Amino acid sequence: MENLISLVNKLQQACTALGDHGEESALPTLWDSLPSIAVVGGQSSGKSSVLESVVGKDFLPRGSGIVTRRPLVLQLHRIDGDREYAEFMHQPRKRYTDFAAVRKEIADETDRETGRSKQISPVPIHLSIYSPYVVNLTLIDLPGLTKVAVEGQPDSIVQDIENMVRSYIEKPNCIILAVSPANQDLATSDAIKISREVDPKGERTFGVLTKIDLMDKGTDAVDILEGRSYRLQHPWVGVVNRSQQDINKNVDMIAARRREREYFSSTPEYKHLAPRMGSEYLAKMLSKNLEQVIKSRIPGLQSLITKTIAELETELNRLGKPIANDAGGKLYTIMEICRMFDSIYKEHLDGVRPGGEKV
Ligand code: GDP
Ligand code: NA
Ligand code: MG
Repeated sequence: MENLISLVNKLQQACTALGDHGEESALPTLWDSLPSIAVVGGQSSGKSSVLESVVGKDFLPRGSGIVTRRPLVLQLHRIDGDREYAEFMHQPRKRYTDFAAVRKEIADETDRETGRSKQISPVPIHLSIYSPYVVNLTLIDLPGLTKVAVEGQPDSIVQDIENMVRSYIEKPNCIILAVSPANQDLATSDAIKISREVDPKGERTFGVLTKIDLMDKGTDAVDILEGRSYRLQHPWVGVVNRSQQDINKNVDMIAARRREREYFSSTPEYKHLAPRMGSEYLAKMLSKNLEQVIKSRIPGLQSLITKTIAELETELNRLGKPIANDAGGKLYTIMEICRMFDSIYKEHLDGVRPGGEKV
């Protein structure tokens, strides 16, 4: 299964590398059918912090106000050994081992597209992280939903952000990570509002409650975390991310995760929930769910891939052999990946008994 997730990752990468290749081609459809996880919520609800904790690395710009201004498509690749590095699609030959430099490049690349403004752009940044400590996942960080335009932003920004977010989460293969801060009334949560719109039954929505440490004294989040306030098919997960003060003091991820574990296991209200709380638990649960989604979509994906292989073959024939140009080379790569998917899928089928049970 590990194999299939990483193949889906590769397919995603290959489709993106090809960009807006041919409207009539099956590629855009294939891209839309690949499963992913998008993080949505109000501005400063803690989306980027949650993503960082799930990855277990510090690499995202965070802070008050509008920090995330372009979608970030983040692919996590699990590799053997002890090396860890990152690569941007817009800098194909550059390898980052310093994650502070990754954060700076995300900020710089955002500015390159939007200027040093508070404007947003729907053009995604693609980042891959290779590490023995991550689970294979594709995660998408999105700009936060807002209620009003601030100085330097067009009036249309509120609607623009909402449309951008919706374009990602309305895809039936998108798993929604709906982030709501515990120090605000859940009834006003932007995350819940928009995810309910595209996933009314809550089948592909995971509720994440942040800032539990910032709740008013005398109140707690037990009703929300136990699903009594707002019911979703999947259980809610509470997290405690680093505060702005922690960020300013450079509190590292390991310390932050330890403190988060201690918080849940030592707070009387949450003690009984502790094993199902926190960022590490969230990461594992998401990976497991993504696996299930991929498994359930394999037949559909499979027929799309067969179609894509056929179309790519025609396209390659049209371009002629030997393939000298870049487009041909890329098409060839994606076809190879499709074929790999095809054979792994067949292997997977062989291992499945008629009853559907894995041997
Ligand atoms: P985003 O705008 O939704 O991506 O939110 P960020 O991740 O950038 O976080 C916004 C601010 O809230 C930052 O200053 C974070 O340090 C802070 N923050 C996020 N989550 C928590 C949390 O669980 N507890 C505390 N105390 N602060 C948090
Ligand atoms: Na923010
Ligand atoms: Mg953010």
